[in-house]
Amino acid sequence: MSVGGRNVTAVVLAAGGGTRMKSDVPKVLHPVAGRPVLVHVLAALAPLQLERRVIVSSSRKSEIVAAVDGSPFSEGLIYAVQDPPRGTGDAVQAALRAARFNDGLVLVVPGDTPLLETETLDALLHIHVAGDAAATALTARISDPTGYGRIVRDADHEVERIVEDRDASYEERAIDEINAGVYVFETEPLSQVLEKIDRENAQGEYYLTDVVALLRSAGHHVIGHRTHPQEVLGVNSRAQLARVGEMLRRRSCERWMDQGVTIVDPTTTYIDASVRIGRDATIHPFTFLEGDTSVEERAEVGPQARIVDTTIGEQAKVSFAVVIGSHVGPEATVGPFASLRPGTRLERGSSVGTFVETKNAHIGEGSKANHLAYLGDAEIGRGVNVGAGSITCNWDGQDKHRTIIDDDAYVGSDTMLVAPVHLGKRSATGAGSVVREDVPDGALAVGAPARILEGKGNKMGVDENQADEEPRE
Ligand code: UD1
Ligand code: CA
Repeated sequence: MSVGGRNVTAVVLAAGGGTRMKSDVPKVLHPVAGRPVLVHVLAALAPLQLERRVIVSSSRKSEIVAAVDGSPFSEGLIYAVQDPPRGTGDAVQAALRAARFNDGLVLVVPGDTPLLETETLDALLHIHVAGDAAATALTARISDPTGYGRIVRDADHEVERIVEDRDASYEERAIDEINAGVYVFETEPLSQVLEKIDRENAQGEYYLTDVVALLRSAGHHVIGHRTHPQEVLGVNSRAQLARVGEMLRRRSCERWMDQGVTIVDPTTTYIDASVRIGRDATIHPFTFLEGDTSVEERAEVGPQARIVDTTIGEQAKVSFAVVIGSHVGPEATVGPFASLRPGTRLERGSSVGTFVETKNAHIGEGSKANHLAYLGDAEIGRGVNVGAGSITCNWDGQDKHRTIIDDDAYVGSDTMLVAPVHLGKRSATGAGSVVREDVPDGALAVGAPARILEGKGNKMGVDENQADEEPRE
């Protein structure tokens, strides 16, 4: 694994306190567009030809490990603990110590810049390898450089040093070329100058940025490579987290539109990085596609849908619904106003309509539950019609029980199916029936007719004496 014959170690800095977030959660673990900030950075590194990857974490390593382990990028990661975090320079030193190497190139990436793209990192590596420098820094020109380190160039326009916002002079603050915090270093000269940095600065930290001037005074060149300003935005505050989220979402909508997906309103469409969408699918406004979700060709999702860890089959339609951990088969319809909870599986052409909730329910081909129903722990065959107001009484207060409804059964309106219970093929239930025993194939279950209790009716609005005179049973 090498770039131009040089082996590359990526070092991801993730130990910083993140004070400006005012959070109990480590900054790099805040979720944005469906994954922690840090995981976006690991995703950008993934396609590169890297020898090894090192994450520098604080004493809260276990939280970082847990978050990264939940992603596809955890394999082979080396962790370096920097405790306490004393600055970005100290962090890189911790990485060099932990990973025990002193050759090749080091690619340093901050763990808090989730918009960085693989192509940019790859270009930076190639520019470095082609040049004759000890370091190549990624820079950008931005209209409001407040908070960033500024790139100070010499008369030959070469990078001379980097000055932090809080240490910059009035003139230096006016420089609009900023340090992205991403660099390629020659490992050997880097480790030499890292020994020399001090914490004589406004933040009392060991700044990695100080190595630039030290490399220059040791006679090395430093290259500055400019990229788009949108890419370098760091997450240092909640406001920046929201801005980065907006940009990640826009980017993912654009990617899907390029691949033939209709997105009616990208500004109200939220598609996580982990989602897959087929050609000619349509995503209507106010739709959230999250986690391990896949929307297949020509399906229509939204308006107003939240789909989590779910497959939506070809030409299925889902509107105004919450669908979690489910499978919606091809040509099935869901909603408006349906809640599909984990373990729901709708087969081809089935439908779940208004105010219907399902959980752990398998609904066979062409079966329908179109109005006001609860189907939990249910196995429903093909061609079944579940009438309005019917529910599976699956929970007896202690245990869950299953309801089985065979092909072509007809469940009358407002049927209570007291589980465990089994309705046979082509069986039927009458409106309002309470079914406590199995119904054989072809049979009709009717029951629970209401008893009439004289004088026990609604006493509201009747004066008390009169009410007392009512006969009692
Ligand atoms: C840093 C750069 C600044 C640059 C900006 C770009 C320094 C001194 N400054 O500033 O020039 O414009 O990034 O985003 O490097 N971290 C550690 N250990 C520490 C301190 C920080 O691992 O002891 C990590 C943080 O978790 C973060 C990254 O390093 O992921 C950058 O640290 P941060 O404090 O955000 O630096 P900035 O002030 O943004
Ligand atoms: Ca930062």
